[in-house]
Amino acid sequence: MHYYFAPLEGITGYVYRTVHHRYFPGIDRYYMPFVAPNYTMHFKEKEKQDIDPAHNEGLTAVPQILSNKADETLWAVEELVDRGYREINLNLGCPMPTVARKKKGSGLLKFTDELDAYLDGVYNGLDRRQGDRPPVSLSVKTRLGTDSTDEAEALVRIYNRYPVSELIVHPRCQADLYKGKPDMEAFLTVLRGSTNPVVYNGDLICPEDVREVGRMCEEAPQGIESVMIGRGLLADPSLVRQCRGGELITAQELSAFHDELYCRYREIFPGDKVVLNHMKELWSYMGKLFPDGAKCLKEIKKAGTRIQYEAAVRVLLGTCRVERAGRKENRTDGGK
Ligand SMILES: Cc1cc2nc3c(=O)[nH]c(=O)nc-3n(C[C@H](O)[C@H](O)[C@H](O)COP(=O)(O)O)c2cc1C
Repeated sequence: MHYYFAPLEGITGYVYRTVHHRYFPGIDRYYMPFVAPNYTMHFKEKEKQDIDPAHNEGLTAVPQILSNKADETLWAVEELVDRGYREINLNLGCPMPTVARKKKGSGLLKFTDELDAYLDGVYNGLDRRQGDRPPVSLSVKTRLGTDSTDEAEALVRIYNRYPVSELIVHPRCQADLYKGKPDMEAFLTVLRGSTNPVVYNGDLICPEDVREVGRMCEEAPQGIESVMIGRGLLADPSLVRQCRGGELITAQELSAFHDELYCRYREIFPGDKVVLNHMKELWSYMGKLFPDGAKCLKEIKKAGTRIQYEAAVRVLLGTCRVERAGRKENRTDGGK
């Protein structure tokens, strides 16, 4: 099995990716949070920092484009190719209403003619590239509909018209956001019908979840060779190591990982408030490793200063037990 780290906008920027890779090597590809090209044909400063090859040294990073316009996408593709990237991912999965309302991300999925025209423009544009340009493959990350996963069959017919290097499927629709369970039936429909390789993404929290999805997919002739994991890896940065038969993270490892991340964030973010907000968001996931840590986690959340934050983290890591995340059906958090 290959393991991909999902893009998580606002969390898995280049600092997180490089620190994670240093402490927990073994991720096959880190997908980057999206860049959103527009008519100005310029990347924003934050995007430039994230896609800078010097900031992604030593790991396999795949940039992602969020757009519904072929010309803007093709401009961004060439910019990324010039920076050395050879796989680029198209975001057809973002469920946020502000994005979906603009017919981008999973908001484009119900406008099947426009989706088809967008992909046609992009993949034909790639075919027309000059022969001396470096080769590049385009993968797609998609949900299975805007209003319902019943849209899956029509979507796979469209994706089959294009040489999608990998179709990464999160089997929810836009309207679901992150509620309910991933629709495995709809995922298997796509897996059976897709002429492109398919990757599973969604709610993988522990190694048993990965094994179960692998087993379910064996019934389809092509099966799956890769999974993408997002929130499960945020919660337990050692998850892929465990999937490969390795050990659960220790409090010492988490402490070293945390300290380096915290230091690097202090170097790049303007002011303690921004740093603390980033760290607190991360603890809303990593806190799941501490079944008896509720009181300490509350102190972390409440911390208004660096001193209070650092003290609360020390107490959590020094006194609370680290435990492996449980199977989905045993969880009561709705899978956050
Ligand atoms: C905070 C947050 C930010 C996300 N940002 C992106 C993004 O930039 N691009 C993208 O394709 N998906 C994004 N996603 C979706 C994840 O990549 C992933 O598909 C989703 O969380 C389901 O996988 P998981 O259950 O393993 O987390 C984001 C999800 C969250 C929770």
